[in-house]
Amino acid sequence: MSYEVEKILITEQAIAGRVAAMGRQISADFEGQEILCIGLLRGAFLFMADLVRHLSLPVEVEFIRCSSYGKATKSSGEVEIEFARKPATIAGRHILLVDDILDAGHTLHAVKEQLLARGAASVRTAAFLDKPSRRQVPFQADYRGFEIEDRFVVGYGMDFEERFRNLPYVALLRGV
Ligand code: IMP
Ligand code: MG
Repeated sequence: MSYEVEKILITEQAIAGRVAAMGRQISADFEGQEILCIGLLRGAFLFMADLVRHLSLPVEVEFIRCSSYGKATKSSGEVEIEFARKPATIAGRHILLVDDILDAGHTLHAVKEQLLARGAASVRTAAFLDKPSRRQVPFQADYRGFEIEDRFVVGYGMDFEERFRNLPYVALLRGV
């Protein structure tokens, strides 16, 4: 079955403006600190790339592979976390955890807890999108780009069966 974009929900221009504003806000809040930005692969790769270019702080960049979704469109609640082979030092660091979308909340909640358990000095979270109506664990992102209703979206890093991550906008798919 082949899928196609039904509707653009958030345009490239709207994304650029919002991500720049988030970067300014984060830069102001973390002023004087050095931060370790940790992006969750693979969904956060575009948001992370855009966001860090708007941070006027000393920034170290790291990625974590983390999956709770598989090929389904509903979150399972089980989160597997895999650090790079030679991970950045976590202990004592001020961390900004970056993800594409905050949905049930299991992913960011679990990763944040693991980073704190590894001795992070602080962990703040930035989610490009937020679907608050889907939350299964009480969790709020410190920074979020856009709040959306409970619709499955693709683009700007987000996939459906590993496709559509490269779209420069956020879209709804026909038939999903
Ligand atoms: P959760 O907050 O633990 O449910 O997981 C969030 C993760 O689920 C995100 O990082 C995405 O990978 C995935 N996800 C949730 N909603 C969507 C969606 O609408 N499109 C694509 N991926 C999604
Ligand atoms: Mg993801």
